[in-house]
Amino acid sequence: MIDLTNKDLMPNLCLIDGKWCEADQGDRVNVTNPATGEILASVPMMGKAETERAVLAAHSAGKAWRQLTGKSRAEILRRWFELLLANQDDLAKILSAEQGKPIKEAKGEIAYAASFVEWFAEEAKRVYGDVIPEVMPGTRLTVRKEPIGVCAAITPWNFPAAMITRKAGPALAAGCTIIIKPATQTPLTAIALAVLSEQAGVPAGVLQIVNGRSADIGDTLCAHPLVRKLSFTGSTEVGRLLMRQCSDNIKKVSLELGGNAPFIVFDDANLDKAVEGALIAKYRNNGQTCVCANRILVQDGIYDRFAAKLADAVDRMVVADGSNPRADLGPLIDTKAYASVSGMIDEALALGAKQVTKREIHTDPSQRFMNPVVLSGATKEMRVYRDEIFGPVAPLFRFYSIEEAIELANDTEFGLASYLYTSSINTYIQVSEALEYGMVGVNTGLISNEVAPFGGIKSSGIGREGSKYGIEDYLEIKYVCLGGLE
Ligand code: SIN
Repeated sequence: MIDLTNKDLMPNLCLIDGKWCEADQGDRVNVTNPATGEILASVPMMGKAETERAVLAAHSAGKAWRQLTGKSRAEILRRWFELLLANQDDLAKILSAEQGKPIKEAKGEIAYAASFVEWFAEEAKRVYGDVIPEVMPGTRLTVRKEPIGVCAAITPWNFPAAMITRKAGPALAAGCTIIIKPATQTPLTAIALAVLSEQAGVPAGVLQIVNGRSADIGDTLCAHPLVRKLSFTGSTEVGRLLMRQCSDNIKKVSLELGGNAPFIVFDDANLDKAVEGALIAKYRNNGQTCVCANRILVQDGIYDRFAAKLADAVDRMVVADGSNPRADLGPLIDTKAYASVSGMIDEALALGAKQVTKREIHTDPSQRFMNPVVLSGATKEMRVYRDEIFGPVAPLFRFYSIEEAIELANDTEFGLASYLYTSSINTYIQVSEALEYGMVGVNTGLISNEVAPFGGIKSSGIGREGSKYGIEDYLEIKYVCLGGLE
């Protein structure tokens, strides 16, 4: 059980057309705590029919919502932001219980989630158009930005709150309506956010939650001609499939997909700061973020000192149930994730990598909690070089020159986040400009915030979330040519 002050946050139902409802056939699915396996609640398991209804409701609700001024929508979003913060402790408890992340990190995620709502509430008032100097006498050329219409959001389990508000915030600010399909592992946070959106005054049908089978809901959202945009955060494999499905009716898509972030430490880096940055970039959310450092590339001259210092810090991280206030790392999301990460560690060790951390890796027989690991001597032949690890493993790769670091860093199909540590302005300029990534952190391991454009290139996705660019994905450009003037 989750001990909440505001019990209304857990109706354990979905929200369609302003009504909290069960699935048509009464199907339900359990939500469990990944730390204990305890059943926290059950929620409706919906499919095509319910999704179809949500699309029609969103279409109908959109007619009035788009007519409101940006200022009126901003006021509603502002109230939602305030309610998110007022309920931060309860929301964090729900999030931590169903996702596993430590309570202090969960509280941080709620603040991060709320920051997108606040930011886009402000942006709602700034959807500017253009006046274009005309090329023919007697004409006036103007550009208006208009809401794209019904949007769908398919969101992941690793950030059950922030990945919803990063999509719903700009959608609602722009005058769009949104149907959210949360990850089946973490629907309780999504439902709680929707409860607060309703209290904030978001009208019926403008924000809806449909939980259930990914295939049924995803297929319906992608195929439906009234859904004009899909925003997805998740794996590149699923992103490709959704993009194909959206091509039939030429939907706009935003995709925030997998990463394989290089974290480059040059000889002249500040060692303490580089270790501090690596702890955040690698072990945030137990290594389960798309921007987590995946390959730690370390220059020969600093390699041994960096490895020892990082391993020492990692050995001191507290691995515990997320509800424990001392926890730095919680459980992995499920035993499948545990098996996948273990498989990568085993393969790297078999191919010659060495464990630098002292703690035994596997001490939990239930295979939920994994002790964090630093591996030295990692090579290109290992899966930790190619694949997104999504777990608490830091493989260290040795390099000798700036050119080699750039080549290794770019040697991947992915292009989301990258990091580099140096005290040289020349290295910073040369490397940050050469990195084929949407985001570069220089002398920092934490780059995400609401005011900066989050997104990737290559197989890491399309579009940007957050920042002044984030709302553009929810807008269409309409050009009006007024002719026949005196
Ligand atoms: C993600 O892992 O998809 C999001 C991470 C972030 O927003 O920092």
